[in-house]
Amino acid sequence: MKIFSGTASKTLAQNVAKELKLKLSEIELHIFPDGEKRIRVVDEVVDEDCVVIQSTSTDTDKNYMELLFITDALKRSGAKNVTAVIPYLGYQRQDHVFRSGEAVSLEVVIRILEAVGVDRVITVDLHSIKIPELFHIPAVHLSALSLFAENIKKMPNVVLVSPDMGGIRRIEILSKMLGGMPYAAIEKNRDLKSGIIEAQTIHGKVKEYAVIVDDMISTGSTIAVAADLLAKKGATEIVVFATHPVFSKDASMLLQKSKVKRVYVTDTIEVLKEKQFEKLEVLSVTELIATELKKNS
Ligand code: R5P
Repeated sequence: MKIFSGTASKTLAQNVAKELKLKLSEIELHIFPDGEKRIRVVDEVVDEDCVVIQSTSTDTDKNYMELLFITDALKRSGAKNVTAVIPYLGYQRQDHVFRSGEAVSLEVVIRILEAVGVDRVITVDLHSIKIPELFHIPAVHLSALSLFAENIKKMPNVVLVSPDMGGIRRIEILSKMLGGMPYAAIEKNRDLKSGIIEAQTIHGKVKEYAVIVDDMISTGSTIAVAADLLAKKGATEIVVFATHPVFSKDASMLLQKSKVKRVYVTDTIEVLKEKQFEKLEVLSVTELIATELKKNS
């Protein structure tokens, strides 16, 4: 097996390769003055099982293009197959038409990945469990919930909280993993045009120790608003577990200033230095991904 990485996931790819006792294979990347890229695979890949690890968070389009170019280069160089490990699948929230006239961006991305020759996709904590069905190639959906459970079980007398009704399934699975831990869910309203989160109520009993669990943090407003509501209802220790640190806009500042004590995320997306903050703790999905890759080697 040969493992390659795009620029978005270098550290994670290095860790996965190390876990598999392999070395990351080399790619030559040249950027032209106008921003276009030329990609060349340096290693010999004829008849090899190849893996490309590339998260497609910000800058989403750029990261997708890199992944597509690397896949194309591998296929042209004779790779037996290409597995794209996309720890954070960009455009996943646009998986259906919300308002008439919209594009289904995720479907477009999937069509392109398949057309360029990706044979299999491995991804982590998708926004909807139905997304793998949109692929015509095998799509493996891993979850960081077991990682979260390991940490949450060390915490005393906790209530799990979903910051929106869409996250109920996730919270139910986690509650089961933790032997039926109690949970609550917040009803949030997000204005589709402005993105502003409006009214909120909470279903379920709030305890002093509240653990908010979500798939991703983008602007951080879902978490900040949820934490305010939990604090109003009596929670004093509020922590967050979210798989993908998308961290757009001023998310880091908002989270640092929020009522949340600690924010646990994973390394599906590399958090740049300027986006790191004191309350942040990063757990690693290295083993999850390596274990999945080992199954087919
Ligand atoms: C929404 O349904 C997702 O599960 C997240 O709660 C959401 O994407 C977080 O976005 P933001 O951080 O911008 O509020």
